[in-house]
Amino acid sequence: MKVLIATEKPFAPAARDATAKILKEAGHEVVLLESYTDKSELLKAVTDVDALVVRSDKVTAEVLAAAKQLKIVVRGGAGYDNIDCGKAKENGIVVENTPGQNSNAVAELAFTIMLNLARNNFQGKTGSELKGKTLCLHAFGYAAQAVAALARGFEMKLYSYDPYVDVSVMSRYNVKSCSSVEELFGLGDYVSLHIPAIPETIKSINYGLLSKLKDKATLINTARKEVINEADLLTFCAERPNFKYGADVAPSDEVKKELLEKYPTRIFFTPKKMAAETAEANYNAACAAGQQIVAFFESGDTTFQVNK
Ligand code: 3PG
Repeated sequence: MKVLIATEKPFAPAARDATAKILKEAGHEVVLLESYTDKSELLKAVTDVDALVVRSDKVTAEVLAAAKQLKIVVRGGAGYDNIDCGKAKENGIVVENTPGQNSNAVAELAFTIMLNLARNNFQGKTGSELKGKTLCLHAFGYAAQAVAALARGFEMKLYSYDPYVDVSVMSRYNVKSCSSVEELFGLGDYVSLHIPAIPETIKSINYGLLSKLKDKATLINTARKEVINEADLLTFCAERPNFKYGADVAPSDEVKKELLEKYPTRIFFTPKKMAAETAEANYNAACAAGQQIVAFFESGDTTFQVNK
């Protein structure tokens, strides 16, 4: 089978080479399209491939239509909002993600942002410590679980709201379950977002929810920019002089510029999306993608399918 690894933002070379080796050893042909700058390059590259590995690359209906032989797309990572899953299903194409493979990297970055903001971006103003503070996790998937595991070292108190995760999973991490997202937002010194970008969550972090936050609360977003209502975020930042916001997925350019200029000690954005940018996360996600493709063609394994 012909497998295309198409990554606008490439995996680290060691990770890419390791997954290519897994695929080649199983008898597959591997082609690479890295650091491409125009979607026409992807449209051309997919025409004769049987399998596709991507990161946040947009796999639209147009791409799927051009990929006449395509049987499986694996997103090397957790969120698959970049893939038109419905269209893939219609075309009989399996879509998978690689859940959990980059979650520790995301968790460490969430703490990097928390620590940075706790020290007021190192602008000379006395900061605060994480020890003993309350951390609230909006959703409790793999990334949130990794955050919870690290939070124990900081002796933080933990809460989460996730109607899709059993309370017993939360208890394993000493996390108390909340009965609503509003309750969760009202409890945290820190609130960390781990929700996917789906129609129900887009712009769901709005003024109503933000106004539930405690005085001096910090909101951390390593999930997706689309879940934030940016106009409401601007209003809330203006109204609440002690509120802090940090994200790996910065808002649109204009909002980002305004926030950084107005509130230099209480806003933090990574220069580009960096959460999964560790050697380990790249290696784990890329290799899992390769192994999942091998298993799919070998035995029809679709354990990680997300478009059933
Ligand atoms: C994910 O959904 O796994 C993360 O957001 C990482 O995305 P990336 O592969 O585009 O860095």
